[in-house]
Amino acid sequence: MHSDHSLPSTLDLFAGEDRQPARTEQIGEQSYVLRGFALPWVARLLPALEPVLLQAPFRNMATPGGFTMSVALSSCGTLGWTTDRSGYRYTRLDPLSDQPWPEMPAVFRELAQAAAMAAGFSDFMPDACLINRYLPGAKMSLHQDKDERSYAAPIVSVSLGLPAIFLFGGLKRSDKSRRVPLFHGDIVVWGGVDRLRYHGVLPLNEGHHPQLGAQRINFTFRRAG
Ligand code: SIN
Ligand code: FE2
Repeated sequence: MHSDHSLPSTLDLFAGEDRQPARTEQIGEQSYVLRGFALPWVARLLPALEPVLLQAPFRNMATPGGFTMSVALSSCGTLGWTTDRSGYRYTRLDPLSDQPWPEMPAVFRELAQAAAMAAGFSDFMPDACLINRYLPGAKMSLHQDKDERSYAAPIVSVSLGLPAIFLFGGLKRSDKSRRVPLFHGDIVVWGGVDRLRYHGVLPLNEGHHPQLGAQRINFTFRRAG
């Protein structure tokens, strides 16, 4: 197990488990996979996630087209992303409780900012963190993140638990997409000229992760408002 005594600064190149240099893979002009970047933070992320999920439990939302998403969602931050029969949008209240979404834990925001910085995006101030839970079989179809007020800020996407194949496409749905395996602790950041690239996740395979069991959890940080 990794120790957690020194959390990385935003300029720390040694963000991986066992203090190995984090490996950065460029997957677009302004898109990066930061391998293992979140590993030193996991021991603080998971306890912070618990009260968030008590307040705003995972739920399978309906799409405007009338399907139920296989990925279960929650959110924290001042804005939460929701979907129902009338469309996709950000809301200040959790429609399940009619209460504000849980506050974004400081450690979530700090990780998102550090990852954005490592990918060349300074001053990232996320106000929304979508929390996706994939059980085996769950998938996310190709889509663009375009419900945000501005596209100036990047998307920062943290993978925890079971591995998944991330699809990273182009600016048109029909563009060929690249398959990027994502593992526990990896972070993908895309922004700037790549901000509106299509992306998705292939159906999750069965498996068991030592810390998270038979699931993958993804945090997607955005500046939505
Ligand atoms: C998303 O696009 O909201 C999720 C991406 C992922 O689960 O890696
Ligand atoms: Fe997305």
